Amino acid sequence: MIQASRESSSLDPPTFNPYDYSFHEDPYPTYRRLREEAPLYYNPELEFWALSRHADVVAAFRDSTRLSSANGVSLDPSAYGPNAHKVMSFLAMDDPRHMRMRQLVSKGFTPRRVADLEGRILEITLEYLEPALAAGEFDWISDVAGKLPMDVISELMGVPKSDRAEIRRLADLVVHREEGVLDVPVAAMDASLNLVGYFARMITERRAKETADLTSALLGAEIDGDRLSDDEIIGFMFLMVVAGNETTTKLLGNAMFWGAENKSEVRQVLSDPSRTPEWVEETLRYDTSSQLVARTAAEDIELHGSTIPAGDKVLLLIGSANRDSEVFDDADTFRIGRNSSQKIASFGGGVHFCLGAHLARLEATIALEQFARRVTDYDVDVDRCERVHSTNVRGFAALPMKVTDRH
Ligand code: HEM
Repeated sequence: MIQASRESSSLDPPTFNPYDYSFHEDPYPTYRRLREEAPLYYNPELEFWALSRHADVVAAFRDSTRLSSANGVSLDPSAYGPNAHKVMSFLAMDDPRHMRMRQLVSKGFTPRRVADLEGRILEITLEYLEPALAAGEFDWISDVAGKLPMDVISELMGVPKSDRAEIRRLADLVVHREEGVLDVPVAAMDASLNLVGYFARMITERRAKETADLTSALLGAEIDGDRLSDDEIIGFMFLMVVAGNETTTKLLGNAMFWGAENKSEVRQVLSDPSRTPEWVEETLRYDTSSQLVARTAAEDIELHGSTIPAGDKVLLLIGSANRDSEVFDDADTFRIGRNSSQKIASFGGGVHFCLGAHLARLEATIALEQFARRVTDYDVDVDRCERVHSTNVRGFAALPMKVTDRH
């Protein structure tokens, strides 16, 4: 592999392959080399460009005119292509199409609706956390972090309690990938169809009888006589499942893992749970669950002495931007209390800035704060942790842990 940037003079150029399992173990040394030696990197085999510096990633997020989302925002080609918007709703659209849908959806998905969920998020958290803590030894992912985010999305949409376990099972299948296989597995496609069918039935029911949930709110959303079609509502519900479930689960897992690896830091929170938001923010910076997004160059783009030709794929390396020492002091150290929320790239930027950022932060804060109120020390069984291998999602499929001291 070669690097594209003329800025580099290294004889041993950095290589960056987001499919490489050893890269997943610790991507940060590679990111550092990319930032320093090849800030505009080209991988000729996988045919993508990559931006790794904070300033470039932030600028790219804001440049939605020259960097299009309409061909999908994932590196993996199989799930996207020209029909990306059918799978990923307005995440994979450009303005003005994107803006129209985002504005209509925002009529229902309001900050107020998210804030009103706080009490229910607490109840759902305790439903899973209390039995786990009573057992003393448990798997943070399968027992707590893997359940909470999808249940909260179900709560938001108005999925009845009796259906939630099944909806969670389908949602997990949708994003599940077989090791080493790039194509979307048949089970994932089946699960997607089942979810779409379920959401379609929910919409029919809400048309017959309005309720107080987000589904009814989306049906009622209107701007100057324009409304969302049923397909658009289903697309958005599906997007929440894809964008808001696994990312939040992995955030919770990464927080627990890095807390255990940095005991003197996490103890500040375990002794003062009101500092939980600082634990969440530092996890979002240090090891975020959504490591990259892709764009397609809409025109030739000159950068760092090279030209990205129109039509080429460009990766925005969020995980690297968050470790850029130009922006974060001592960037490779996990340090609670940095006050860096405004600088982290974890939720993207510009017109596609994560619509669920507030919800993700609220959920993570509630779950970790409840943990911190009950636990003064814990250990993670590092040898039995299982990492997910994905080009963009970073986190654990299994995180066995033990509570060693309580309040
Ligand atoms: C967009 C990250 C949780 C809904 C995004 C983007 C990022 C991101 C990086 C920008 C994608 C791009 O520019 O192409 C995350 C992370 C999360 C999280 C790290 C958890 C830790 C959520 C949740 C929801 C959600 C809980 C909703 C339930 C969305 C939606 C978009 C989005 C709808 C598309 C916005 C648009 O295209 O205008 N997210 N997200 N996310 N996210 Fe999140």
